[in-house]
Amino acid sequence: MPKHPSEIAGSRWNTEQYGLFDRERLQPGLDLLARIEHRQVQHAIDLGCGRGELTELIAARWPKARVVGLDHSAEMLAKAPGGSRIQWLHTDLAEWDPGQKWDLIFSNAALHWLPDHATLFPRLAAMLNHNGCLAVQMPDNFSEPSHQLILEALRTGCAGGAALCEADLLESLSTKRVLPASAYYDLLSSLGGRVSLWCTTYIHSLQGENPVLEWVRGSALRPVLASLGPGQAERFEEVYAQQLRAAYPASTDGRTLFPFRRLFLLYSAKER
Ligand SMILES: C[S@@+](CC[C@H](N)C(=O)[O-])C[C@H]1O[C@@H](n2cnc3c(N)ncnc32)[C@H](O)[C@@H]1O
Repeated sequence: MPKHPSEIAGSRWNTEQYGLFDRERLQPGLDLLARIEHRQVQHAIDLGCGRGELTELIAARWPKARVVGLDHSAEMLAKAPGGSRIQWLHTDLAEWDPGQKWDLIFSNAALHWLPDHATLFPRLAAMLNHNGCLAVQMPDNFSEPSHQLILEALRTGCAGGAALCEADLLESLSTKRVLPASAYYDLLSSLGGRVSLWCTTYIHSLQGENPVLEWVRGSALRPVLASLGPGQAERFEEVYAQQLRAAYPASTDGRTLFPFRRLFLLYSAKER
């Protein structure tokens, strides 16, 4: 019996596949880090830190801070740099109770894997010190062909009658988790701090035969493929790959342009 996507969406990552587009995936995290104003940071945490590249940059920017990188993927944390002063915490964010306050809570491309943002974001904001900052970036690309074609390919039955219901699929693809920007504004501004929100559409220029497929294989497609039965995954991928290639044709130089919209949020607990 196929597993429910939420059982799989969790901790198993193929770090090689994810790393194929390292530069493109890291850029939004660098942009988020650059937007954090100068501030005193003694305790910082990177939620869903993955292989820890950004955690290291946080540690470099605040050399006196105690820095923690948290992730529930053993594969990702195994690639995190050793020998640094960063503490790596292997735990599920959904169950995490730090028992302390933070000057910086940072999260790049991770919180969209967690449900119920209406509860999650105020919970994180409540973990900030009085002058602390919550800095988050999440993909906001779920209505684009890269994601919608996954649903379409499964709906049209190419997966051989996958035992996934529509709600499960939407959930596994994070489609329903990321809220409109105004919802984050309302949730956080009511706590008394200052909220800054912005969106950026990165237009990645990717190399390869069907590079958007390779990109999605490393992230959104993971739980979907893992939840399909034997033979279904191959058939699904065949149909999805064709549709994707048509939706993202190659440019004249052979590269493929992949627009990817992302939502950024900064919350400063103390209004300034
Ligand atoms: C797309 S990667 C981003 C990694 C890193 N932040 C970066 O920008 O390179 C998402 C990360 O979030 C982690 N993650 C997702 N859900 C999580 C959870 N419930 N608890 C802890 N980590 C989680 C995944 O294991 C993965 O390493």
